[in-house]
Amino acid sequence: MAPYAPDTMPDIAYVNGRWSALEEAVISINDRGFLFGDGVYEVVRVYDGRMFRPDLHLARLARSASHIALDLPLTREDFLTLFEEALRRSGQREAIIYLQVTRGVAPRSHAIPPDLTPSVIVTVRPAPVVTDAVRAAGVAVVTVPDVRWLRCDIKTTAMMGNVLALLATNRAGGFEGIQVRDGLVTEGISTNLFAVFDGVVQTAPEGTALLSGVTRHLVAELARAHPGLREESVSATDLVQADEVFLTSTTKEVVSVVSVDGERIGDGRPGPVAADLHTRLRQQIAEACGLASVGARA
Ligand code: PDD
Repeated sequence: MAPYAPDTMPDIAYVNGRWSALEEAVISINDRGFLFGDGVYEVVRVYDGRMFRPDLHLARLARSASHIALDLPLTREDFLTLFEEALRRSGQREAIIYLQVTRGVAPRSHAIPPDLTPSVIVTVRPAPVVTDAVRAAGVAVVTVPDVRWLRCDIKTTAMMGNVLALLATNRAGGFEGIQVRDGLVTEGISTNLFAVFDGVVQTAPEGTALLSGVTRHLVAELARAHPGLREESVSATDLVQADEVFLTSTTKEVVSVVSVDGERIGDGRPGPVAADLHTRLRQQIAEACGLASVGARA
């Protein structure tokens, strides 16, 4: 038996107060999320039935919403209750909770009508998992031009830049695309990027050019404690000189990069700094979720 077979429990959805199977969930074609990508979202990882740091995700949601002048229709506690209920209804234990809040439903017009009620969508699905084999080998990435807008700090559902970047990445055979703007690495397509130079961990500073990943924050704090952190953008040309490169995200945790555009990183194998940070991140996850350990996946 595969030790990490996908849950056989149902994928479920909540749309504006209505629960259903995921494939039966529907939303109006006049929803501004559908028409304009006018919404914000979060992805929370669930380990053995427990959410990992939903507080950080909800804080970022509030920040994203405020930046697009959207008043969230639920409180933080309401969202947490909704998540718990979604998990209970789905029965899934290794899952991702996806939350999307859009501006709401109105006949198509760019102008935002006053007093619109935002749409709230929650789904629960099995967590996509990076296997141990992939982790052990490390992944190959390719650089792609960062063609996104100038507020990449807002976690919006309008993601055409990311979609096209992933298309180019997949065509080039990369596991992930590394986005480059003005010669500097901003982030991956759905990950943040770190590099190690002479034992110091380096990552681009927070700002409008990239999403402030929850995992980025946690890993950066671990690195700050040991072996040291420098928050400074890495140029695409310097990246291939790094001793190690790794990616972080809610679903991928920490994944080592072993080549960039076909050029080998370090000795071409996952490095010790990433491995140590991943171990310490998993300890944090286990502690926060009240688990003995967060384990390897076949
Ligand atoms: N993506 N950068 C971008 C552009 C992202 O979309 C994400 C997350 C990250 C990593 O952030 P975090 O550590 O908070 O997951 C960085 C989510 C998982 C997604 O779109 O599915």
